[in-house]
Amino acid sequence: MSDYDLVIRNARIVTEDRAFDGAIGIKDGKIAALGTVEGDGAREIDAGGKFVLPGGIDSHVHVEQKSGMGVMCADDFHSGTVSAAFGGTTTIIPFAAQHRGMSLRQVVNDYHACATPKAVIDYAFHLIVTNPSPQALGQELPALIREGYTSFKIYMTYDAMKVSDYQMLDILALARRDGALVMVHAENHDMIAWLAHHLVEQGHVAPKFHAIAHARVAEAEATNRAVSLARLVDAPMLLVHMSEIEAIETVRQARAKGLKIFAETCPQYITLTADDLDKPGVEGAMWCCSPPPRDAAGQEAVWAGLSDGTFDVFSSDHAPYQFNAGGKIPKGDKTTFKEMANGLPGVELRLPLLFSEGVQTGRIDLHRFVQLSSTNHAKLYGLYPRKGTIAVGSDADLAIWDDKKDVTVRWADLHDNVGYSPYEGRRLTGWPVTVISRGRVVVENGTLNAEKGSGQFLKCDTPDASRPLGRATPEMTKMAGFGARPLF
Ligand code: URP
Ligand code: ZN
Ligand code: ZN
Repeated sequence: MSDYDLVIRNARIVTEDRAFDGAIGIKDGKIAALGTVEGDGAREIDAGGKFVLPGGIDSHVHVEQKSGMGVMCADDFHSGTVSAAFGGTTTIIPFAAQHRGMSLRQVVNDYHACATPKAVIDYAFHLIVTNPSPQALGQELPALIREGYTSFKIYMTYDAMKVSDYQMLDILALARRDGALVMVHAENHDMIAWLAHHLVEQGHVAPKFHAIAHARVAEAEATNRAVSLARLVDAPMLLVHMSEIEAIETVRQARAKGLKIFAETCPQYITLTADDLDKPGVEGAMWCCSPPPRDAAGQEAVWAGLSDGTFDVFSSDHAPYQFNAGGKIPKGDKTTFKEMANGLPGVELRLPLLFSEGVQTGRIDLHRFVQLSSTNHAKLYGLYPRKGTIAVGSDADLAIWDDKKDVTVRWADLHDNVGYSPYEGRRLTGWPVTVISRGRVVVENGTLNAEKGSGQFLKCDTPDASRPLGRATPEMTKMAGFGARPLF
């Protein structure tokens, strides 16, 4: 009888604030010993001196969900979680989305029915609230928060989703009272609608006009307004998928004032620009998301926020739609930018992109990588310390990274169901070669070894807005852009 189910030896273990050489002993899905591990494992893996990091947590993922325009995602809980696992992610938090007229309770029940038979890694649920009716606010939401659904997204734009400022205040006040976190899609609806109307009227319908209609000031204004609303009722708030220079500065200043404002950004805002939408015909739809990718200066502002701690989490906003009439382009080559499905795939490449573009270039160090990719998600959404770290007692969710492995992105090598990658042909260095979920080696040698339905649902605790999140140390900020600090 072995002492452990699995032992990983010869590992360079990195957490949000520690780095050490050693071993990890795993029993019953949990980390049971760390550092020097005496005794043997039923299975032993020699990490060969590679980095072993906490498995990624992707807290902004759309799978098996209908968009506001009624388009179904290309990934279900199977392809979505398989793709996540191959990219080094061991927990996802997708959205149980209420569309107007639906009961939140029914939405959650239906979403469980989708997830339970299919997920191969663990998952929690956020809610999307589009109809803050007396029933939703008075009964459903308070009960759901108590049951472990402690975060919900609201939209300031999209005809079918948006809530008014008055409704936002109702939702924020409830979140403050009952201990939940409100996630906000901040773009000014009328600015976008007005610009889009006039662009279309003048025949400017190509995908590139999406980036013009979703103007920078629309994100800046809505972010400022959202922060002001949160401030009025003293509620914690997370601004999701941030892309814009002034909006990022608004978050920085709100923090400096002591407001409980958190911020998320995504791979598309460090790797793509609006020029990517400027392709012949409707091809640019493949790069269409909201907010849109901006420009080189915007990318630099996002990097600055990632390295100086303004951003708390780096998520994919995986919103997968195929490039066909059932997905991105409902009217084929006649689809205007207003009709295209919004969103990009990214759950599998989120971490390799951040590793390659951030760690390898010295813009962030590995501790910051771990904070942004895993630990801070667990802390923000009430999953810590079960998830998001490497510690005795935590779930054995781990990724062994080969920091020397060069990969050229080909959609055919990915595991989503989208049919293209916005990052096709990009060369990345660093890859999660072995991925472990609750002690199960789910990805190894490019092969999946996880049964459909083996992922578990996670109830989230009340997010503790006063819990210190991993933030950049002055040393990390200083080194940004000047070459990676050796960890060992
Ligand atoms: O364009 C995007 N981001 N689509 C996904 C839905 C959302 O707003 O996050
Ligand atoms: Zn959004
Ligand atoms: Zn999203």
